[in-house]
Amino acid sequence: MLSSGDACARFASAVRDMAVGVDVHCHINGCVRDDTLLELASARGLGEEARALVLDAPRDLMSCFEIFKLIHEVCTTREAVRRIAREVVMDFAADGALYVELRTTPKNAPERGVTKDSYVEAVLDGVEDACGVGGGDGTGKITARVILSIDRGRDDTAAKINETIELALRNRHRGVVGIDLSGDPKAGSWDMYEPALQRARDAGLGIAVHCGEVANTEDEQRQIISWAPDRLGHCVFTVRDAACYDALRASHIPVELCLTSNVFTKSNESYASHHFKILRRDAVPLCICTDDTWVFRTTLSRECAIAHTHFGLSLEDIRSIMADAVRFSFVETPVKTKLLARIQGDTAS
Ligand code: IMP
Ligand code: ZN
Repeated sequence: MLSSGDACARFASAVRDMAVGVDVHCHINGCVRDDTLLELASARGLGEEARALVLDAPRDLMSCFEIFKLIHEVCTTREAVRRIAREVVMDFAADGALYVELRTTPKNAPERGVTKDSYVEAVLDGVEDACGVGGGDGTGKITARVILSIDRGRDDTAAKINETIELALRNRHRGVVGIDLSGDPKAGSWDMYEPALQRARDAGLGIAVHCGEVANTEDEQRQIISWAPDRLGHCVFTVRDAACYDALRASHIPVELCLTSNVFTKSNESYASHHFKILRRDAVPLCICTDDTWVFRTTLSRECAIAHTHFGLSLEDIRSIMADAVRFSFVETPVKTKLLARIQGDTAS
């Protein structure tokens, strides 16, 4: 008899074989390969520390953020950033993805000769290594685009926030398509970010905002939803507050759902009680994403299998959710059309 683990693995394998995966919410430094992280950490004498970071039990969001300190410490050289960006894209391709929208926070590491400019250049070089010029045109095995993140914990002045917007605008020709607001959800306030995000939106960049990741942020959630970003990440606590949830439903903003991330960080008690179920019941636009494959020990095909196991999604449901994810993505329209045709096969787009 098949165990539920076997059934889950078989579904994940079938998802990989369909090769229709689309992930629009994954942070590059949360998706580093085990081997790469250990190699880079060992070269800096931090191998043991890196090994100890592999999480074998759920942790809250704030302790997960601690992990990024070491990852950033060992991964922020131009060579490493380029390599990691390339490997992340290749790993998604091996997992059956045909489009990935990677996000990352531009970093300065003067002691290693890294500026925010050269960091972004290295990311785009890595994406180009994996996908070809500009991250590909929708016809290759995998196409990728990049979103630059504003880190709520570190980007604490208008100058730093604006620098990220400028960097994104300067690098559009190489495949930067949007801006993300992420990092410690308790740091900073929406008023600080809104003017810069508005400027980015006016200039044509897509905007994705982490929203409702922690409790007691209802006022901010309502501000964010009424500003209407193109996509929202998580919305765990948005669903738990009637006024916030009403606003979300009325807005029709697509939500990027990261099942394992939310269960791992204990925002959701279990997969079975994940707000995926409520959003799907209420026909809120949604997509399935990984957030941080390394931190949360997952893959996109596994997330789809979890949605199958706990919410009864079929392979055709997955195909349809992936088509929606392309529609919600920030990639240029001609590429979107090609990707949609590939996902839908013979079905009309
Ligand atoms: P990076 O931007 O490529 O360095 O990816 C890691 C960064 O993404 C972290 O330092 C956080 O700022 C952000 N991040 C990753 N996962 C989450 C999350 O679940 N919530 C909010 N921010 C996150
Ligand atoms: Zn995230």
